[in-house]
Amino acid sequence: MTIANRDDHWSRHAAQWSHVGPPLRPGSEDIAVARELVAKSGRDSSSGSPRALVLGVTPELVGMEWPSGTRLTAIDRCPGMIGALLPSEGRQGPGGICGNWLQLPFASGSFDLIAGDGCLTVLESTADHCHFFAELARVMTVNGRLVLRLFVRPTVAETPERVIADLQAGRIGNFHVFKWRLAMALVDAQTGAVAVADIWQAWQDTRIVAAELSESLGWPPAQIETIEAYRGASARYTFPRLDEVRATLGVYFDELACPIPQYELGDRCPTLLLAPQS
Ligand SMILES: C[S@@+](CC[C@H](N)C(=O)[O-])C[C@H]1O[C@@H](n2cnc3c(N)ncnc32)[C@H](O)[C@@H]1O
Repeated sequence: MTIANRDDHWSRHAAQWSHVGPPLRPGSEDIAVARELVAKSGRDSSSGSPRALVLGVTPELVGMEWPSGTRLTAIDRCPGMIGALLPSEGRQGPGGICGNWLQLPFASGSFDLIAGDGCLTVLESTADHCHFFAELARVMTVNGRLVLRLFVRPTVAETPERVIADLQAGRIGNFHVFKWRLAMALVDAQTGAVAVADIWQAWQDTRIVAAELSESLGWPPAQIETIEAYRGASARYTFPRLDEVRATLGVYFDELACPIPQYELGDRCPTLLLAPQS
């Protein structure tokens, strides 16, 4: 199991959060899906005031419409992300807890609803994915529901050269799509993992001048600069294939739905609706 991450890059990510966009952050289509799945789960739940847990502090999830009476808690292990992204005390918002998803500080059966965005990718191995699903199954009520957006790599891998060629030919819609395609093209085929620092290095190795790219494609310089948060980062990202995720979660959960969004790279960003196995 990975212990809470040393000097990870999330504090830097927090500082530039406003320049991060879809598909890394959930867009309106993702939130519409999450809201619908959560609303349906809330209607099916026996609890009049569901207890809900957000994994991380993704503002779009925390701030979306939850079933009436929902008691919301958010958990993230990075104090900088909690401080930067959760509504501050005194204003309406969920309670924020600093903790590790792999060792959740909650009793069994504590939550009716759990939602997360891109959580598997920020864990470092398939073993961590397995711990993660086991912990979520433990803290969830028997009729609970889990809504989880994934970042999954394609069955047939792209090469970094192909991704860079598409960037230079103007065939990519925004820098975040490029970053994710590059990251997925760099993963180790066996583990599905890539060192975050290697994503930055591969970008450096292209020798593309950020200002020129910004000028030629009309992308804001600050959007391109978001990749600087990856420089020297000690973390690893994982981009499992969808069949690999299904194999891991299938020990603990049943899959109820898997909508695929329409936006660019949406086929790699499905949202799963899961129910714990009885
Ligand atoms: C919810 S994920 C979503 C990432 C986002 N979609 C992106 O890549 O830009 C990001 C958050 O996960 C948190 N995180 C990563 N691993 C964690 C763990 N094991 N336990 C708790 N929080 C974790 C990080 O601190 C960060 O705030």
